[in-house]
Amino acid sequence: MSEIFPGIFESDFYINEMIKLWDEGEKWAKWLDELAKRYNLERKVLDVPCGIGRVSYFLNKLGYEIVGVDISEKMIKMAKNNVPNGRFYRADMRYLKDVLNGEKFDLVINIFNSLGYYSEEDDLEILKSIKEATNKIAVINLDNRDYIIYNKPEVYYTYVHPYLVEDHNYFDPYTSRLKIRRTYMNQKGEIIGSIEYTQRFYSLHEIVNLVKKAGFKILDVVTAYSWKKFEVTDPQITIIAGI
Ligand SMILES: C[S@@+](CC[C@H](N)C(=O)[O-])C[C@H]1O[C@@H](n2cnc3c(N)ncnc32)[C@H](O)[C@@H]1O
Repeated sequence: MSEIFPGIFESDFYINEMIKLWDEGEKWAKWLDELAKRYNLERKVLDVPCGIGRVSYFLNKLGYEIVGVDISEKMIKMAKNNVPNGRFYRADMRYLKDVLNGEKFDLVINIFNSLGYYSEEDDLEILKSIKEATNKIAVINLDNRDYIIYNKPEVYYTYVHPYLVEDHNYFDPYTSRLKIRRTYMNQKGEIIGSIEYTQRFYSLHEIVNLVKKAGFKILDVVTAYSWKKFEVTDPQITIIAGI
């Protein structure tokens, strides 16, 4: 098993990017609510990893009971503040049973590129650990490797208030890992910090095989928080997996 590298997940720069994506949490929550109705699921969700609770916050507003797990001390603290009536654990998602003690959920969500930080064996462990906690449905969402290859520029800039962010990406076709070096600059263009990590991205057939290996059945594959059937040119893969 790979070692945890908490560095980036405790970085204020990284956390700031999660905050910037807060509003998207509402779109996810609406879609997940529709999913729960389609599959007749109870209003209780395991959000793993929950990050700052940007999806849980909106699910909770829709009446869902929330249990969240994340490795980042800072993010778990923020999630607790954002969803005061939720139950949150700082834990490694490869070993959910250590904190869940056999508790199961009709709906478990693993969304927004929450796989690929470690090895493929670790991703299998995460998926098996999620399977053990799932009563009915798990949703796994991540960026599509095939889209990344053809669409992600090697260098690009974004403005994530209050920083200008410069991304250098190098995709290694032998490992399907994207090496990301992200530099943060202030308003004057001075470098004030950077983070570096690699992440394994999956093609549809690869992630489907892994999800099946973990013991799930594939019920549907769509893109992002939509009901559009996934196509290989779509940026995001969302797998609806069943028991
Ligand atoms: C891209 S964020 C997604 C967070 C959340 N799902 C969202 O949509 O906002 C990835 C998250 O994975 C968490 N993480 C990384 N390794 C973990 C591990 N081994 N166990 C639990 N959480 C982990 C990080 O702390 C971070 O919050």
